[in-house]
Amino acid sequence: MKREPLCPAFDLDKAARAGLLGQRPAVLWFTGLSGSGKSTIANAACNELHARGKHTYLLDGDIVRTGLCRDLGFSAAQRVENIRRAAEVARLMVDAGLVTLTAFISPFRSEREMARRLFAPGEFLEVFVDVPLAVAEQRDPKGLYRKARRAELPDFTGIDSPYEAPASPDLRLDAAGRSVAFNVGRIIDAMEVAGLLSPPDGPRRP
Ligand SMILES: Nc1ncnc2c1ncn2[C@@H]1O[C@H](COP(=O)(O)OP(=O)(O)OP(=O)(O)O)[C@@H](O)[C@H]1O
Ligand SMILES: [Mg+2]
Repeated sequence: MKREPLCPAFDLDKAARAGLLGQRPAVLWFTGLSGSGKSTIANAACNELHARGKHTYLLDGDIVRTGLCRDLGFSAAQRVENIRRAAEVARLMVDAGLVTLTAFISPFRSEREMARRLFAPGEFLEVFVDVPLAVAEQRDPKGLYRKARRAELPDFTGIDSPYEAPASPDLRLDAAGRSVAFNVGRIIDAMEVAGLLSPPDGPRRP
């Protein structure tokens, strides 16, 4: 479905806002198992981008689920709705001119594709934070795998709910064998190659 531009009647648009910020808005969509390192790597990438003068926002699944999506659970339908809302918020943030990083398990391929379709070509990078399930489970930073194995947490991704790994992500990070700093470097390189760290087209800040 082709989406109309946001607020076509308003004078200021994404290009005007991005021009004032001196950057190219984009979304880095992190996906991966719970405990794979999405929040950790996205946080470190945000720090690096911030240090390079980029205006960023990190939209994190844990935070969104305590507010915007606090009415949603973890059934397949509710996960789809969670990602739909997250993608729409990311779209608004990109429209505001921000480099937006999202950290959601986003287990279903079709929902990630739905998210991608909200953005202009080249504006959306799918970042697969790849670790074997055994590594994520061993890390278990929130104790969620332990609960899921005791059947205290139904529909947990990787245990009794599927994770559909990206077939051709824009970037695949080995988050078991490589350090956070190394993977941040790969993200910056990928953004450079995609032209996302270049100055924006159009009018600049005076
Ligand atoms: N190489 C690595 N890259 C990323 N995280 C690592 C690495 N090595 C160890 N870790 C640890 O793994 C854990 C990853 O947890 P994190 O909360 O970032 O995962 P997540 O993918 O955001 O999970 P969730 O979907 O549950 O929010 C952290 O405790 C982090 O310190
Ligand atoms: Mg997280």
